[in-house]
Amino acid sequence: MTTKTDNKRRQFLQYSAVGAAASFFPQILLAQAKQVKSYATANFHPDVEIEFTTSKAFVPIFQQGPKTDVFQYSARVLKGPQNTLQTLKDNYLGPILKLNKGQKVRVFFNNKLDEPSVIHWHGLHVPQRSDGHPMYAIQPGEQFVYEFEVKNRAGTSFYHSHTHERTATQVYKGLAGLIQISDDEEQKLDLPSGEYDVPMVLQDRTFDNRNQLRYLRGMRSRMMGFLGEEILVNGKPNMRFDVKTRAYRLRVLNGSNSRIYKLGWQDGTPLIAIGTDAGLLEKPVTKPYIMLAPGERVELWLDFSGRKLGSELVMYSLPHSGTMPMMYERMHGGGRMGMGMMGRMGGGGMGMMSSGIPQGSQFKIASFRISQKVSDSPELPDRLVSIPRLTEKDVNNRNNPIPIALRMMPMMSPRLNGMSFAMNRVIPLEEVELGSIKKIKIFHEQMGHMGRGGMGMMGGGMGGMGGMMAMAHPIHLHGQQYQVSSRKMTGPRLDDYATVSEGFITEGWKDTVLVMPGEEVEIIKPFQDYKGLFLYHCHNLEHEDLGMMRQFYVG
Ligand code: C2O
Ligand code: CU
Ligand code: CU
Repeated sequence: MTTKTDNKRRQFLQYSAVGAAASFFPQILLAQAKQVKSYATANFHPDVEIEFTTSKAFVPIFQQGPKTDVFQYSARVLKGPQNTLQTLKDNYLGPILKLNKGQKVRVFFNNKLDEPSVIHWHGLHVPQRSDGHPMYAIQPGEQFVYEFEVKNRAGTSFYHSHTHERTATQVYKGLAGLIQISDDEEQKLDLPSGEYDVPMVLQDRTFDNRNQLRYLRGMRSRMMGFLGEEILVNGKPNMRFDVKTRAYRLRVLNGSNSRIYKLGWQDGTPLIAIGTDAGLLEKPVTKPYIMLAPGERVELWLDFSGRKLGSELVMYSLPHSGTMPMMYERMHGGGRMGMGMMGRMGGGGMGMMSSGIPQGSQFKIASFRISQKVSDSPELPDRLVSIPRLTEKDVNNRNNPIPIALRMMPMMSPRLNGMSFAMNRVIPLEEVELGSIKKIKIFHEQMGHMGRGGMGMMGGGMGGMGGMMAMAHPIHLHGQQYQVSSRKMTGPRLDDYATVSEGFITEGWKDTVLVMPGEEVEIIKPFQDYKGLFLYHCHNLEHEDLGMMRQFYVG
């Protein structure tokens, strides 16, 4: 029988080829972090200055009953265009932050909670010090100053808390908001704007009968991730958009802790994507449905021209399977068995069961009611923006991709390359030369790679507990966006995979990619412009807080 120590030892030997001891040098960076934390730098000349404050608040989420106790970002513009911020009324979501490429931005962040906090600008390519690494979390009453230049292309991103072991709970309580970036290339396209450019932040939440947020408890439910009983769109339940008979640009962000959506229309109308994480696509892509995992964004072109006044179109999350461990899906039915559950549900409570809408079930996201006829509508452009395609020729580690091995095992926190997050650790394979472009391979450890044969009874073969526990992980890398160069399904759950496989968009830029059980995804990522520590982690926020996070040191 294989013991834990043997496993550990094997693990150690596996990585010892690249260095017997982990590097501790980022300690120096940690020390620097303490010194720079609370003042603006004199040689940075911002075009935009904003003050962000996080505090407790009560907001009316429901039309009836008590207000909900939340955490909230509020903000105001101190310098620069007033329309940099668009506040959402009566909402826990932070204001929409609208920036332009090339702007220099300074943010004064005040923490008025009674716990530490830090803001991360997910999707933005900014220096380490302004990236919201948990080492920069500030205590109650303190201020942190972020400074960065907007280098991103036009697209949709979001900001959220990234506090050590508190990301899931702080985001759940409300610490998130949308970012929209614009640039000249986008402006020339004349896409739907103003009221026709609509945000759609998807989140699931569970409330008690006093309208207060309830979160999950216990290690086992955290392993499966939080799944709520209600779907909120832009912070509100039962969302209905009143639309005109014309085209819209819809910016969809999955801001849920761990729910995965399969976006589709009830009447089978295909979806047209014009953008992915943090950027427009080269040209529109048509899909029968689109998978959207936590942290991912997709921009849709919705054209209601020719629809009947008063008619309604419903966007669903369609049934699917294969994102959860086999055991879980057997208990809940999963999408493949066609079991659709909606609304508030009784409290499961059987270990792996959570009381929320099961992952993979069908449920309603929002409805769109045609409420006004208009005579003209913009046309969908055939070409959007130009995207240089990164290939194997651009990378300097073609035959030696950086591995990100995903591990889920019973009674153990989920891991990356066998390791949990440690604030001051980087192993040699996580050291990347500044300016390089790397091939990175993301795969499930137990599904026939490093696990097979090497892990004894824990992971060997696919019948092992490791394979049984495998679930989909949305893998996010901080810093610059990457491109997906290949997706390969090698695992046994092919029927499940068929329920999701047409919903992945591999064209365009990404910063978060869903890796299904048995799937191997290769990406190509540039590490340019900034030195320092940049996180990579599972964007299932429960997994992130359980330590399924590591960091690259770019230097
Ligand atoms: Cu959206 Cu490191 O996170
Ligand atoms: Cu991020
Ligand atoms: Cu995960």
